[in-house]
Amino acid sequence: MSDITYDIEKIKEVVRERSLRHIAFIMDGNGRWAKKRGMPREYGHKVGVEAFKRVIEACDKLDIECVTVYAFSTENWKRPKREVNSIMKLLDEYLDKSCPDSVSIRVIGDISALDERIREKIINIQNATEGREKTVNIAINYGSRAEITNAVNCLIKEGADSITEDDISRKLYTAGSPDLDLIVRTGGDLRISNFLLWQAAYAEFYFTDKLWPDMSESDVADAVLSFNSRKRRYGGLDK
Ligand code: FPP
Repeated sequence: MSDITYDIEKIKEVVRERSLRHIAFIMDGNGRWAKKRGMPREYGHKVGVEAFKRVIEACDKLDIECVTVYAFSTENWKRPKREVNSIMKLLDEYLDKSCPDSVSIRVIGDISALDERIREKIINIQNATEGREKTVNIAINYGSRAEITNAVNCLIKEGADSITEDDISRKLYTAGSPDLDLIVRTGGDLRISNFLLWQAAYAEFYFTDKLWPDMSESDVADAVLSFNSRKRRYGGLDK
C-alpha cells in the first residue's frame, strides 16, 4: 500500500542537490510493535520485512544510490532461539524473492556463522543482481567493531606496515558503497548499536519514535527533508 502524501519530485531534487547517495536504517521496534497487538515478537519481524520492502522501494523511487539495513547483529544471537530462527527464516525467504530490478543485493557481515543453505542463497542473489545501478546492503551477523578489526587484520596479512584511512575503507564490508550520508533509527532509542561506526564519521542522524513495522514511504521522505535542513560542514566552517 502506498501512502504518498509528499511531492516525490521535490524529494528527488533534495536527494540530487544534496548528494544523498547512501542512507542506512536501524530497523528497531518490531518486538514492541507486535507486543502492543498481543502478538509474539516473531510477528513483528514478519511485518518488519514488509516495511523493509516498502523502504527499499521508496529509496529506489527517490534515486538513492545505496541503502544499508541492519537486519541481524552479532549480538542478536543472544535472543531466544525461537526468535533467532524466525529472523533467519525471514531472511531465507526474502533471498528467494525478487528485489527491485535496478537493485544489487549485497550481504554485509560474517556470513560464515550462517546455515550453508542461507550462505548459498546469499551468494546466488549477489551474483544474480550484481552490477545494477543501485545497491541494498543487508547487514547480517554484522558488528562494526568486528568489521574494522577484520579490515585491519586483512591489511596486516597483506604485509602492510603502515595503514591509511583509505586502506581500511577498502577492506570494510561496505567497500565500493558511497560514503554514508544519513542514518535513520526507528523505535525511539538514540544510539548506534555497533552499526557502521567507521562509515558514519560524517553521517547525519535521524531518529524517530515510529516502530519499524509502521515505517512508510512518507517517513522516508521526512528523513530526507530533515537531512536537507542540516548544514554539513565536515569540521569546517560555513561557506
Ligand atoms: C530490531 O527490533 C529488529 C531486529 C533485531 C530484526 C530486524 C529484522 C527484520 C526486519 C527482518 C529482516 C529481513 C530482511 C529480509 C531484511 P527489536 O526486535 O529489537 O524490537 P524491540 O526493540 O521492539 O524489541
